[in-house]
Amino acid sequence: MRIVILGSGTGSNAEAILKSSAEGQLDGTEVVGVFSDVEDSNILKHSKVYNVPAIYLDPGSQNSIITQELEENWIQEIKSLNPDLIVLAGFMRILSKKILLEFNYKVINLHPSLLPSFPGLHSIEKAFNKKVKITGCTVHWVNEEIDEGEIIAQVPVRIMNSDDLELVKQKVHAAEHMLLPWVIRDLANGTISFLK
Ligand code: GAR
Repeated sequence: MRIVILGSGTGSNAEAILKSSAEGQLDGTEVVGVFSDVEDSNILKHSKVYNVPAIYLDPGSQNSIITQELEENWIQEIKSLNPDLIVLAGFMRILSKKILLEFNYKVINLHPSLLPSFPGLHSIEKAFNKKVKITGCTVHWVNEEIDEGEIIAQVPVRIMNSDDLELVKQKVHAAEHMLLPWVIRDLANGTISFLK
């Protein structure tokens, strides 16, 4: 299974995938490329350490999408790597229907809450401020709606009364670093099925 990762930031989840892969835990998979909409992002730096092609692509001037005139470039660049699966690991732009269709909706996203609770941005802060006692992370199929696609897997994280926000963030990120490689492994070995 050929995997392409898209991300915008720190890249700790891309790193978790690349590390699992390097340790031989993701049989039958290969990360064939990492793309970012942020030129100096750490996700690109991490990927180079693992000798994976790390490519910056210009998303255009709009904040939360890839602008229409640059979309075709993204499609062609990703297609040239012939991926079976696209993994959004902290990619902070919404993919258009055109892009999703080009890749047959074989796109998964990692989100730092137990969806459908706390979709959108700042999910860990929102859960913490709401004083929920259990939060977590979710991997779901991507569709045209934000954080709405079918849920594939989740990991719960307890919020203790003594936890501060920083600790909750650390716990959610630690759960994410386990969950995303697990889902990829299970998609590759058929334990989890692709959408029909
Ligand atoms: C992760 O917490 C991921 O769940 C979140 O961005 C972070 C990326 O961290 N994604 C979203 O909020 C998407 N809506 P990373 O760059 O260290 O992997």
